[in-house]
Amino acid sequence: MKKLYIGTNWKMHKTLGEGKRYCEWLAAYAKEIHSQIDLFVIPPYTAIYPLKETLKDKPVRIGSQNMHWMDEGPYTGEISPLMLTEAGIDLVELGHSERRQYYNENDADLSKKVKAALDHHLTPLLCIGESLIEKQLSAGPETVERQLKMALAKVEKAQAGEVQIAYEPVWAIGNEGTPASPEYVEQMHRHIRQVLIRLFGKDTANIIPVIFGGSVNTENYLSYLKLKGVDGLFIGRAAWDIETFREILAGITCWLNKKQ
Ligand code: PGA
Repeated sequence: MKKLYIGTNWKMHKTLGEGKRYCEWLAAYAKEIHSQIDLFVIPPYTAIYPLKETLKDKPVRIGSQNMHWMDEGPYTGEISPLMLTEAGIDLVELGHSERRQYYNENDADLSKKVKAALDHHLTPLLCIGESLIEKQLSAGPETVERQLKMALAKVEKAQAGEVQIAYEPVWAIGNEGTPASPEYVEQMHRHIRQVLIRLFGKDTANIIPVIFGGSVNTENYLSYLKLKGVDGLFIGRAAWDIETFREILAGITCWLNKKQ
């Protein structure tokens, strides 16, 4: 059965206490979630290890919001793949648009990060997406193509199946964002799949999950999930609150049960 990847990035939100309360709820709620759902939570660094403990033996993965490509070195403020694997996690988000926008994250550095993640058996969740001006000038497809080509340039075909992609149009993210239409999302996911096929061949490209994010909420989550080529959802604000995340997870579980 093909997995559906549903996860949340907390960005710079939630203290350790708040994160623990959330994950205690998630640990108790996990048994009600459909087994096809691969659930993940990406908290701030300081919460990674304690929350991994809170979710011990539960089907919820914990990830990191970023990572340097070196194992160690004079890089103040950075965190290495070794440190993340030692904390017991196997997922790392790379290239979120806020990191690209505020911290000069670029595709060349991302190519080193993706490779380092794979070499350390961490699943890279590579975020891509066009800006508003790129969309207005009809350059969205070229932007995601460039981002994919560069960030995946060091990935060998044999490793490519371990990569995961989050397509998040920058103009759809956050409080100022406008939700994307399902038609647009489907079209972009089709294009992303074609680029992956060109890079790695059909068989490998087809096992790479491509999930969607950007203003996913309780009103629109199913409209995206039902689209061909959307393998899951990456949710910010609507998943930070236990009530709304429960509503989304319960709705997806119900939808999956009906489909069977
Ligand atoms: P949002 O965030 O759901 O709050 O728009 C999405 C993201 O940044 O991944």
